[in-house]
Amino acid sequence: MSQSFDVIVIGAGPGGYIAAIRAAQLGLKVACIDEWKNAEGQPAPGGTCTNVGCIPSKALLQSSEYFEHAALHFAEHGIALDNLEIDAARMVERKAAIVRQTNEGILFLFKKNKVAFFPGRGAFVKAAGGAYEISVDGTETLTAPNIIIATGSRPRALPGAPFDEEYILSNEGALNMQEVPETLGIIGSGVIGLELGSVWRRLGAQVDILEGLPVFLGAADEQIAKEAKKAFEKQELNIVLGAKVGSVEVQDGAVRVAYEDAAGEAHSLVVDKLIVSIGRVPNTEGLNADAVGLALGERGDIVVDAECRTNLPGVWAIGDVVRGPMLAHKAEEEGVAVAERIAGRHAHVDLALIPSVIYTSPEIAWVGKTEQQLKAENIPYRAGTFPFMANGRARAMGDTTGLVKILAHEKTDEILGVHIIGAMAGELIAEACTAMAFRASSEDIALICHAHPSLSESLREAALAVDGRALNF
Ligand code: FAD
Ligand code: NAI
Repeated sequence: MSQSFDVIVIGAGPGGYIAAIRAAQLGLKVACIDEWKNAEGQPAPGGTCTNVGCIPSKALLQSSEYFEHAALHFAEHGIALDNLEIDAARMVERKAAIVRQTNEGILFLFKKNKVAFFPGRGAFVKAAGGAYEISVDGTETLTAPNIIIATGSRPRALPGAPFDEEYILSNEGALNMQEVPETLGIIGSGVIGLELGSVWRRLGAQVDILEGLPVFLGAADEQIAKEAKKAFEKQELNIVLGAKVGSVEVQDGAVRVAYEDAAGEAHSLVVDKLIVSIGRVPNTEGLNADAVGLALGERGDIVVDAECRTNLPGVWAIGDVVRGPMLAHKAEEEGVAVAERIAGRHAHVDLALIPSVIYTSPEIAWVGKTEQQLKAENIPYRAGTFPFMANGRARAMGDTTGLVKILAHEKTDEILGVHIIGAMAGELIAEACTAMAFRASSEDIALICHAHPSLSESLREAALAVDGRALNF
């Protein structure tokens, strides 16, 4: 016998679990199905983000940053350390404990909000009488008139070089190395390449990144990308742009990558481990989409409109499995909005105001348009920048790399884009998001009192600089 619900959510990543909780808060009877299991075979809700993404990567970034600080900067504070060592296995175990804690937190939230959780694979069986039948692992059947698909994404492999997670690693293997490799190759200088490359470089690995495109961080503001490249090169993170990767072979305990550089010259990179981080593909394979005629796009993504409606009445899709940036907070926003719409309420997600953060050191964060986009769109603007070198808190912290850049409309002064590279950029960007959501002008930020000494003063100074009147630079 099947159990019936108002809403069934397939996938308990940040999109799915948040959608389930919000729908339950709105008084709907909700089931959430997720197939992720941890190493012990236990259900592990939270998706990519919790298990092998945002949370574990930030845990390792924190550990490795402490290590690097201890190695390079403690002495200047008068702190002496002898025999500094890294126990990578222990660091990875700390990360695993944080992941488990987060899995348990989500299970607790499901209970608290009366979301019925079903571990297993959810797949369409059929549509019948205005509702859909969904099987869980083929053993149980649930029905509901509203289905939210939040099945996320998985790493894309290089053709001919499948992940073995021992030598050729996806994000999963890259977050689980028990020892620091002497040499680490990375294909793709996107977000994962830079974050995980930073982790293992800080711990002592020689890291070489092969990037296919001729430009570095093409999605970021050019000025910020240039600063970032300079900072990463100083850290000896070796980034080769315009690399054309050929064969990848595992031989005698090493990985051999054949590639051509931008000038067409052939090279061979031999490394202990290789991380392949060349983007992700939507997860739709297990859904049995054909059974109900769910429309998929060319990338295997689920085709949705601006409100996350699929081609089927009552079936919605959110997060990495649909268009838009593959970010946890974007998935959450869509999850909340869809739950609200199912409950008959109005909701809006502005994809133009989704912030991006790269948690390297320095951090890189932005929201809104880049300078090159404004030029391409012929939008008249004024730019104001402020370097952290001129910020008292940054100097006290000993972390003065980077700058804040504000782009505002030349006539109306509305803030169109904010770009930050430097310490805590991922936290500072929240002020920019708030300001832009309220359609603030740069003058609005310039008129707000910011605490001293704080990194956030740099945002105010950049806003003052838009009008050519920064006070401390
Ligand atoms: P997912 O988190 O992928 O969750 C989907 C869930 O659905 C999974 O649990 C999966 O097992 C389950 N599932 C799939 N098919 C089925 C099925 N048929 N039945 C049942 N269950 C199914 N984003 C950020 O915003 N900030 C970061 O710092 C960040 N860091 C990242 C670091 C790494 C290394 C990686 C890989 C990603 C990172 N991301 C980050 C991206 C972020 O993880 C994703 O954007 C986010 O997890 C997408 O959420 P989602 O709910 O759409 O899908
Ligand atoms: P990405 O899209 O950020 O970067 C992939 C890079 O690989 C690009 O620079 C691309 O040009 C390059 N590339 C593609 N094919 C190549 C090839 N054959 N040879 C060489 N280079 C090639 O993807 P990534 O790093 O895999 O991350 C996946 C997703 O996860 C991202 O979309 C991102 O949104 C999300 N993520 C977010 C984080 C954050 O918000 N801090 C952290 C990590 C991941």
